[in-house]
Amino acid sequence: MDGPVSFFFKNKEVQWHCKHVQNLTMLFYENLPHEYQNVVNPVGLEYAAFLHDIGKLEISESILNKPGKLDDEEWKIMRTHPELGVKIIESLGLFDGITDWVLYHHERIDGKGYYKLKGPDIPLASRIIAITDTYSAITMKRPYEDAKTHEEAFRIIREVAGTQLDKELVDIFTSISKTVLEKCQPCT
Ligand SMILES: [Fe+2]
Repeated sequence: MDGPVSFFFKNKEVQWHCKHVQNLTMLFYENLPHEYQNVVNPVGLEYAAFLHDIGKLEISESILNKPGKLDDEEWKIMRTHPELGVKIIESLGLFDGITDWVLYHHERIDGKGYYKLKGPDIPLASRIIAITDTYSAITMKRPYEDAKTHEEAFRIIREVAGTQLDKELVDIFTSISKTVLEKCQPCT
């Protein structure tokens, strides 16, 4: 099977992660103060969260499932997944307005991300997804790393608040209880 649909059958970990990030993002949205909620469309946010890694459809399985750290060349390929994702989303023609949110989901607050956007120049939706993406990635089992606990995930997320992740948003995210976050699992 070719095309975007095959994405959901191709790699079970990516599939699980995308659904996890979708659910975590909407939980996060519900916990945001109104001044944040008012400037991001929740429907678009949900689509962007679900589709944020769809560009990985174009990345080879040998890189996605490599049981070790990626080398420089493999990282270079992996880092193209946001722009590959934008191309897929544009080809679907259904999700106007979310392409930048997907494109910039690996930006860092300090400007050292994929496209060097900094602070508030990074779309709010991308800053939100960056946090849920990080939490999901840390707490899931990856080809080269075991799953970490909720506590470890919070420790790491707080450690990179203000450099990698938006500090104010991290404070809000980490105020959500462990029970609620751990219950927020993808429906499979
Ligand atoms: Fe990604």
